Amino acid sequence: MEIDDIETIAVLGAGNMGHGIAEVAALSGYTVNLRDIKEEFVQDGYEQIEWSLEKLAEKDQITDEKAEDALDNVTPYVDVEEAVGDADFVIEAVPEQMDIKQDVYSDVEEHLPEHAIVTSNTSSLSITDLSEVTERPEQFAGMHFFNPPVRMQLVEVISGEHTDEETLAVTEALAEDFDKTPVRVRKDSPGFIVNRILVPLMNEACWMVSEDAATVEEIDSTTKFDMGLPMGSFELGDQVGHDVTYHVLEYMNDVLGEAYEPAPFLEELIEEERYGKKSGEGVYDYEDGDGADVP
Ligand code: 3HC
Repeated sequence: MEIDDIETIAVLGAGNMGHGIAEVAALSGYTVNLRDIKEEFVQDGYEQIEWSLEKLAEKDQITDEKAEDALDNVTPYVDVEEAVGDADFVIEAVPEQMDIKQDVYSDVEEHLPEHAIVTSNTSSLSITDLSEVTERPEQFAGMHFFNPPVRMQLVEVISGEHTDEETLAVTEALAEDFDKTPVRVRKDSPGFIVNRILVPLMNEACWMVSEDAATVEEIDSTTKFDMGLPMGSFELGDQVGHDVTYHVLEYMNDVLGEAYEPAPFLEELIEEERYGKKSGEGVYDYEDGDGADVP
């Protein structure tokens, strides 16, 4: 299989990352089948793509025509067979739970063409373990985008123990065709490269609040204005989704040890369902404007 053999991409999961990845693929001219388990989920993802494309066009980052063409490239589906029956490449972006991903792979594989490559946008789970619940472990890789996919340049391409070179080469070529920069992650270790560094940073900020060592405002203004990161640590957590950060930490804590124990403040956010922008409230409030209280 070569990059030129890819015409149709199935994106499984229309949530925060799924719809963003579908948008990226559609902007590069691919036919995109966006699938989720409920009509309302997939429609919501489709509307988010529409919002984002309009925003990019408003800011002259793309033309109105390009925005319209990209939206035309996306078809929402609930039916699995319709979504993957003609897919050459699959990007799975469903919740970070092994059993959910396993169910999705077994639903999909009976309808998926033999030549198709399957990738996961997992931010934590082992690519080797995921590949072993599919019937095509050699044609399985990690393809990890960053939030928001349409704005972030990097894509981690992760090799599992069984992934063959052709799969990795096609996945990297596809990332390049999306105008992204792929980085190959040779070792399938928890958090890959970026999250191994970034998630402990966000957790450490939460530990400081839990211990009353500094306030949210002090930490975010320091990380944003003095350390020069594009967002404050909590602002970034709100963008990524604290539930995602929490799942990554739980996994790292299990595999790598207690240095990755989630902070009590992060646990509070999860208990109160303050996941971030996607739930309307995280550390900051997004109900009355786009994070009006962000420093
Ligand atoms: N589509 C279109 N527009 C969008 C958008 C999207 N998906 N998301 C945000 N915008 C808009 C905002 O609404 C805002 O619009 P406004 O100006 O009309 O209010 C505008 O973009 C903000 O963009 P700017 O270019 O003006 O602002 P920035 O220069 O701050 O850039 C950013 C925004 C690129 C998101 C930048 O803040 C950044 O790089 N942040 C860091 C993000 C990051 O590190 N992500 C990785 C997280 S880790 C991860 O995802 C892995 C996971 O597995 C945990």
